[in-house]
Amino acid sequence: MLVTEQDALRQEIKAWGDMYGRDRTALIPILQEIQRKHARISEYAMQIVADMLDIHPVEVYGVVSFYSFLDHKPKGRFVIRLCRTISCDMHDKDRVARQLQNDLGIRFGETTPDGRFTLEWANCIGMCDQGPALLVNDHVFTRVTPDKVHDILEGCRRAMGVHAQEQMQEQLV
Ligand code: FES
Repeated sequence: MLVTEQDALRQEIKAWGDMYGRDRTALIPILQEIQRKHARISEYAMQIVADMLDIHPVEVYGVVSFYSFLDHKPKGRFVIRLCRTISCDMHDKDRVARQLQNDLGIRFGETTPDGRFTLEWANCIGMCDQGPALLVNDHVFTRVTPDKVHDILEGCRRAMGVHAQEQMQEQLV
């Protein structure tokens, strides 16, 4: 990580400290902000948070490791979390899981080599009467079928295509 990136990260974390406070109760909200913005929580970020909240880095690491929605490993641009709890399980979540794995060419817990998609399991996300349910980042999809998996992934790919085109246009201006 470049020095300027480290400075930027430090400034961001300080701003979240101003927002959430600088004691233990701020730990999870700050970690969630880092995760949302950077898709992972680096060791450097954990160190800054520990210094700012005046707690031991091991404590920060312990929290990051404990909560599955916080992660120190890099994740894809789209994190897909399929619910595996009982209602979704009874509504054929296995077929959806197989389709996701086949379409993406990865297994659960993995990220595609191009860094676009990460596939994970989730526990109940509160959509039990409309299962199988999955999350793509913060967006919920219900009554997912193998066909719908294809549409969801196409939507993600299109969104990335549009984004990439916008970036190219900005560079050309
Ligand atoms: S069991 Fe899947 S959303 Fe509740």
